[in-house]
Amino acid sequence: LAPHDLTGQKILITLGPTREHFDKVRFWSNPSSGKMGWSLAMAAWLRHARVTVVHGPVNLTFPPGVDTIGVNTAREMFDACMDLWPDMDMGCCTAAVADFSPVPHGRGKLKKDECPEGLCVTFTRNPDILKTMGEHKRPDQRLIGFAAEAEVDLQTTAKAKLTAKNLDLIAANRIDSDETGFARWNNSVLLLDSQGQSEHMLNRPKIDIAWRIWDWM
Ligand code: C5P
Repeated sequence: LAPHDLTGQKILITLGPTREHFDKVRFWSNPSSGKMGWSLAMAAWLRHARVTVVHGPVNLTFPPGVDTIGVNTAREMFDACMDLWPDMDMGCCTAAVADFSPVPHGRGKLKKDECPEGLCVTFTRNPDILKTMGEHKRPDQRLIGFAAEAEVDLQTTAKAKLTAKNLDLIAANRIDSDETGFARWNNSVLLLDSQGQSEHMLNRPKIDIAWRIWDWM
């Protein structure tokens, strides 16, 4: 039987990719499946938390007991999270938010004949949802972030991000492995908390990693 140790805890989880359109039918995005966030939502729900998920376009289902808000763009995800965060006990950002948005073309579908020399798209910076939540975090709130890194020194990068975004826990993973990470059910992560404690979880099911993260919190 699952422990009910998250009873009454209001938890906000972001997951999936965002889509940043540059015309009516084309967008800039990434291959995030939302499986890590889904695992965290399911584990928290089984432990009797009140879970709200803000998700980008994903192919996942949630039990009726989990509240879900579907969004497309980083800006929409940001607005939804800013609205919800003051009422939450914990936040967990697993979404692979696009850091940049193309400046929309704005004339329906861009035709290739309009750009015989090729297409130049200008990008603007999107807000960092996790960082903004960290800036507004109250002492009674807890915040978890993720970091997908190509760097060899995962520990240093993760620690810097933990501090910069005012997090209580960060789960960092390398993006150079075929077995783990994007769109897989397994992941390898380094968990690092604000007290300096750390733990490696190598090639483990995302649901096990999720379970461990809630133990930690
Ligand atoms: O800085 P970096 O993008 O590597 O940080 C990753 C973490 O920040 C993840 O938890 C991700 O969900 C979150 N993030 C966010 N909004 C962004 C970019 C990243 O919430 N615009």
